[in-house]
Amino acid sequence: FAILFAVSEIAPWVKTGGLGDVAAALPAALKQRRQDVRVLVPAYPALRRAFPEAQEVASLPSLTPAMPPCRLLAANADGLPLLLLDCPELFDRPGNPYLDAAGSDYSDNVLRFGLLSRVAARLGQPDSPLAWQPDIVHLHDWQTALAAAFLHYEGGAASVLTIHNIAFPGNFAPGDLAALALPPQSWSFDGVEYFGHFSFLKAGLQFATRLNTVSATYAREILDEALGYGFAPLLRYRAQALYGLLNGIDTEAWNPAKDAHLAVPYSAGRLTGKRANKTALQARLGLEQRDDLPLFGVVSRLTEQKGLDLLLTLGSGLAEHLPGQLALLGSGDPALEAGFRALSERYPGRIASVIGFDEALAHQIEAGADIFLMPSRFEPCGLNQMYSLRYGTPPIVRQTGGLADSVVDCNEASLADGTATGFVFQDATAHALWQTLERATAVWKQPRLWRQLQQQGMRLDLSWKRAADAYLALYDDTLAAHRSALP
Ligand code: ADP
Ligand code: GLC
Repeated sequence: FAILFAVSEIAPWVKTGGLGDVAAALPAALKQRRQDVRVLVPAYPALRRAFPEAQEVASLPSLTPAMPPCRLLAANADGLPLLLLDCPELFDRPGNPYLDAAGSDYSDNVLRFGLLSRVAARLGQPDSPLAWQPDIVHLHDWQTALAAAFLHYEGGAASVLTIHNIAFPGNFAPGDLAALALPPQSWSFDGVEYFGHFSFLKAGLQFATRLNTVSATYAREILDEALGYGFAPLLRYRAQALYGLLNGIDTEAWNPAKDAHLAVPYSAGRLTGKRANKTALQARLGLEQRDDLPLFGVVSRLTEQKGLDLLLTLGSGLAEHLPGQLALLGSGDPALEAGFRALSERYPGRIASVIGFDEALAHQIEAGADIFLMPSRFEPCGLNQMYSLRYGTPPIVRQTGGLADSVVDCNEASLADGTATGFVFQDATAHALWQTLERATAVWKQPRLWRQLQQQGMRLDLSWKRAADAYLALYDDTLAAHRSALP
């Protein structure tokens, strides 16, 4: 296949979460399967700096009066072809790709990601400025979803929309439609209208040839009102076109045997090195050097989704009664940031909270913690629990989305048949989380059992190979559906 990946962030250069990881790793895995993939992404300053040699391959005049002209630059990221959408007026801004320095959405996001979507569609149309033509334009979340509407109204390649998180609809005002030159009939119930808003995600859900999300369980969950964020009826209508494909992880970047961020490398066969990473992490974060207490780790965006308010409620219990230690890295909601800061001031030596985004520390927590925590209210896939499985740090997760699909609860049966890899709980309550902290701690205190649990997780195949094959089958079906819909 020739596939255009259109995406708003790409690791390691521009990343706010798992989307960036997927945007780098899935195309690379598809390339390894000899697919012709190119990745379209805005030329943010970090990407301009990383690829100073990028060459102009097309110049696009202003596509609507409201949109500035732009250029496409071609670069090569370790064999993966990138198309950088260069429009300094919209993308030459430091920091977070979506938010200004004060943490608010950029007021011109409708133009920024409208342009990205517009260009993604144009590259899949006969009047593309490139000689190269994709069979499929693969879109990700609201930032590129609108491309499916352009392809629908104007014709062009087939499209796939991957839903990484349905909680972000990409809502704008109806008046913004004109700036993007969508046809007037698009303002309707079966167009881009969504409860009175102009929604980029709705456009994609309505018009992409095929839809998928990043785990089978989340694909079912979003058909219900509770987790569908208003899109459940439309998704039920399109259920035949909706797939659930679990993400993989980059097993090179996340490999405890070769991870340059770690104090000491280790593997499933040589687990002793893991202890040195716990000591190093305790030292780095000013935690007491104790090996008789379990060290819990968290690396997360601090938002309602991640359920860490439940952990905040239990902070004192964790420090005093369990007792255990906590190493948390995250940023986001100011109230949660302040809550975790206060908790670590109250229990220095027991609880360390680092507010920020720190790739090296993320690796060190995965390696140095005994138990990883991810009590998400919903989780489309989740990558951190898979990193922690690979790092011999059994995760505690809530039974939802990709967490439910990647972690097997430790109990008598799953220990006996060798499938146990972590701890799974049901209710999004502090009480249920507390019971699971106790349950995990009890197993941690039995070294032989614990080693078995660690090794079972470490030996899973979490690579992108499996997922890449599933995407190839999805692309097959997408092309077939597209062809059969053509007049
Ligand atoms: P989400 O995309 O919803 O945030 P995922 O688990 O899919 O959740 O992916 C999160 C990614 O972002 C992981 O690669 C994780 O290591 C990384 N990450 C999240 N918060 C931080 C942080 N504060 N510092 C470093 N990396 C982080
Ligand atoms: C989103 C989801 C997360 C998923 C990631 C990559 O950010 O919140 O669960 O792992 O996308 O698909």
